[in-house]
Amino acid sequence: MAIRINGTDVPPPADARVSLLDLLRDDLHLTGTKVGCNQGACGACTVLVDGERVLSCLTLAAQADGRSVTTIEGLRGEGAPHPLQSAFIACDGFQCGYCTPGQICAAEAMLREVESGMPSYVTADLAAGSVVLSREEIRERMSGNLCRCGAHNGIVDAILNVAGERAA
Ligand code: FES
Ligand code: FES
Repeated sequence: MAIRINGTDVPPPADARVSLLDLLRDDLHLTGTKVGCNQGACGACTVLVDGERVLSCLTLAAQADGRSVTTIEGLRGEGAPHPLQSAFIACDGFQCGYCTPGQICAAEAMLREVESGMPSYVTADLAAGSVVLSREEIRERMSGNLCRCGAHNGIVDAILNVAGERAA
């Protein structure tokens, strides 16, 4: 089997104990994915596996065997930044930028979760079948991605703008 990473098939590591995070950063030099806490608390290592957000520090590379992994390097469009990348720049959604790849990968998956009608802890009407993406919804849904620079207001603005563009 193989792990498809940003469109390229990569053999799983021989050592079954290697995390997806270490495979990406140490073996493949895809250092856009950041290591923060290395224990599932900060979200800096967030990547997409088959389109869903996962914490790569808590995921064994072997668990991604036969699946498709997208990192921040694979998320951008052909010759252009991903809309979330542009929105983070426009809205000052970062300062040092360390948390940003994880924020953007998480936001991409989160927007798909909202589009599919998946409710969150703060969704008022669980029976509605659709979600109105308020600032409160974004804060709750992005609460697993910490920003030590305190850029959260800009991050929420950026995500809200992209959600509006997609809905238009
Ligand atoms: Fe994975 Fe912090 S490095 S959650
Ligand atoms: Fe510095 Fe978020 S921009 S940690």
